[in-house]
Amino acid sequence: MSDRKPLIAGNWKMNLDHQQGIALVQKLAWTLKDVNHDYDKVEVAVLPPFTDLRSVQTLIDADKLQFVIGAQDLSKFDSGAYTGEVSAQFLNKLDVKYVLVGHSERRTLHNEDGDVIQAKVAAAFRNNLIPVICVGETLEELEQQGAAAVPIQQLEKALEGHKEIGEFVVAYEPVWAIGTGKVATAEQAAEVAKKLRSSISELVSDEVAQVTRILYGGSVKSANVAGFLASEEVDGVLVGGASLDVGEFTGICRFQKHVSL
Ligand code: PGA
Repeated sequence: MSDRKPLIAGNWKMNLDHQQGIALVQKLAWTLKDVNHDYDKVEVAVLPPFTDLRSVQTLIDADKLQFVIGAQDLSKFDSGAYTGEVSAQFLNKLDVKYVLVGHSERRTLHNEDGDVIQAKVAAAFRNNLIPVICVGETLEELEQQGAAAVPIQQLEKALEGHKEIGEFVVAYEPVWAIGTGKVATAEQAAEVAKKLRSSISELVSDEVAQVTRILYGGSVKSANVAGFLASEEVDGVLVGGASLDVGEFTGICRFQKHVSL
């Protein structure tokens, strides 16, 4: 591992209402407490649906839990007549630290193109949220262009034209591995992460490339997580399905012990 602090982020997607969300966070806190999880060594983030955020934040505050909160999306605007949108300013008020931008489900199911993603990254920077910029290729793109080409193009576009670049995280999630049970090999993930890091170094600077965390995502489970994180290049994981199962997610948070509960 490098000296970048690993980030384990659980993207609940559109699952768990606020009561179920509270129950899961409580159980997760107890389970990680039982195994003496060291949050200073491995950061743990939960990314609930918008309607759960206030409840989860209140619980974290009241019980002094050490989880951090992420949101799954944000508006590119800060306020105004944008029915149904959620502003980064509101997220900020709820102590949200991270926000996913450019998840493949948003790109494909909600038609978010590179311009929208770039504007959302800008909204995150403006409001002191850390965007987790998701990039990844489809199976067809993998076959035609190899694994790294599309993720690099997507990252370039997301980082282009900002007045100021704040802290960000990159999540490499091959589209063909999301929710499918098919995973990239640890070598594939490490190779793409390495190329993404060099492109950050070209696009922004060497210093930023050295401190930026690059995660892998796509069918991560407690049984395969250690392989991904064995590489110096991969600084954490973005977990979908397995983040809804406390035992699995705890096993993932404890990747350093190679334990699955
Ligand atoms: P998965 O989802 O772990 O269920 O494959 C990952 C993601 O979409 O972030």
